[in-house]
Amino acid sequence: MCGIIGYSGHRPAVPVCMEGLRRLEYRGYDSAGVAFPNRGGLTVIKEPGKLGMLEQALEKAGNVLGATSALAHTRWATHGVPNQVNAHPHTDASGKLAMVHNGIIENFAELKQELAHKGVTFQTETDTEVLVKLVGEYRKECATMREALSRALTRAEGAYAVVLVSADHPGRLWAARKQSPLVLGVGVGENFLASDVPAFLPYTREVVFIDDGEMVIIDADRWQILDVATLAPKEKEVKTITWDVQSAQKGGYKHFMLKEIFEQPKVIRDCLAGRIGQRTQSVKLPELEGLPLPGRLVIVACGTSYYAGLWGKYVIEKLARVPVDVAIASEFRYADPILSEGEQVLVVSQSGETADTLAGLRLAKEQGIPVIGLCNVVGSSVARESDHVLYTQAGPEISVASTKAMCSQMVMLLLLALSYAARKGVLDEEESGALVRGLQEMPGLLEESLPAMRESAKALARMYAEADSFLYLGRGACYPLALEGALKLKEISYIHAEGYAAGEMKHGPIALIDPRFPTFAIALADDLFGKVRSNLIEVKARGGKIIALTNPGVELEIDHPWFLPKVAGPLGAFTVLPAVQLFAYEIADYLGKDVDQPRNLAKSVTVE
Ligand code: F6R
Repeated sequence: MCGIIGYSGHRPAVPVCMEGLRRLEYRGYDSAGVAFPNRGGLTVIKEPGKLGMLEQALEKAGNVLGATSALAHTRWATHGVPNQVNAHPHTDASGKLAMVHNGIIENFAELKQELAHKGVTFQTETDTEVLVKLVGEYRKECATMREALSRALTRAEGAYAVVLVSADHPGRLWAARKQSPLVLGVGVGENFLASDVPAFLPYTREVVFIDDGEMVIIDADRWQILDVATLAPKEKEVKTITWDVQSAQKGGYKHFMLKEIFEQPKVIRDCLAGRIGQRTQSVKLPELEGLPLPGRLVIVACGTSYYAGLWGKYVIEKLARVPVDVAIASEFRYADPILSEGEQVLVVSQSGETADTLAGLRLAKEQGIPVIGLCNVVGSSVARESDHVLYTQAGPEISVASTKAMCSQMVMLLLLALSYAARKGVLDEEESGALVRGLQEMPGLLEESLPAMRESAKALARMYAEADSFLYLGRGACYPLALEGALKLKEISYIHAEGYAAGEMKHGPIALIDPRFPTFAIALADDLFGKVRSNLIEVKARGGKIIALTNPGVELEIDHPWFLPKVAGPLGAFTVLPAVQLFAYEIADYLGKDVDQPRNLAKSVTVE
């Protein structure tokens, strides 16, 4: 969603902010803008479309290198169409204050009416303009900007991360957060504010994660954190980011998505590091120490993370016999879910900032249910608010379409299943040891197989890129992967795709099958192979074309068998996942789509 960067320091602020916006592009946006103090006033430049448009406008404006403080924004439209007028920054009535905002001010209509009665006029359809104009009105009555901002924010309902600049205080920025991500980057003679760490990572690794209800004020050489409501100063810890800039760059790959698919062997290694006992091969999850086995585990997540959760249900129930329910976070939060003592909630989120997932987390906590957060971004809201955190160690995921994050979530869910199984004593050591060894061998196996997988994906993509629709089929633990395959295809290639449990197909979707409606099946040589094969014979009988991920040595008469290396039981998922990702990637690339930033999508969905 919207990306924010603010800078105060010794460098030319506008180029620093533009570079920051580039590194936040992955969040998804449809317009962009920048504001900076300039000769007693403020210059605001904004454009619809991609950052190139804003760069051209800046070039035209000239004279932008003098500013040593600035703020900038990429907008993902919520209130008001994506055009120049609605792009951020927005200014108050005096034109001396400019604000950028990520989130939604839910009571903006009431506030707007109240301001209109006072004679304030509005140029845009946005909630942000209302908020900055409210600050501007309070500024007339308050001695300081911080008071004016505090008063305005106390009245704002909804979610926000805001940054504000004033023509009267060049060099200073004010910011605050409620339910939308905001991080402070602490440099030497310079400070940064951003929605996400990669925005300023080339300059500093020292960060302070801003919490809900906090305001932060930066100048070039100091920063200060206050309580938004009381303005009382707060002590905060400065943390050091351990990953580097290279991890957030393409490294020779055409797209981040491709790079991240190929990083999966490393991701598995990193997830396993320090988690397997050398001698006993037992799983170590010290983060869960003190937490009893759950009577029932409720997994709450969105999108790809939800599909990882569905896969987790299969492995946890099968290996550990612990009952698991999986809920879509946006449904869970309003379903008045029944949670009982002894149960636990596991929220799964790459970004750790997904609004619905966070709402699910908070709901569980309100009911006194212990929450485990399975997330990737260190210091994210999920990480900070969960009672126990399992980090997935996938490194920054930049492509909007999630790939390596799901792989890491599946590793952690399998480890969780194995640790539950060991604690309950329901899995014999031999089977458990074989799975652990299989996981340890998976990175090597994938490193060997990924280049050939890509070639197969490329060849099939050329044959099938003209299809309007795809049916993805899988059974058992492969059903969530069919759902994920369909999601990847539709989100980056814009080809309609539906994931279905293979056995359910004859209850409806089979009516769609004809020679122009291809099926992508997952038919591994496992316990359910015979069943899936029967389903595919039914498709074939209706003239449907079939691609199937399978293993060598099986008998399957279909158009395009795609052979993956055979591995034991649930480990097959780690070979299927990159195959469905690569197929979607190659089709989207062949069709010339914007793979890393698909239309209408945002990386971190921080609004409901
Ligand atoms: C799909 C995708 C989304 C996310 C979903 C949840 O490729 O990326 O479906 O999985 O928005 O995001 P997180 O995991 O950050 O909570």
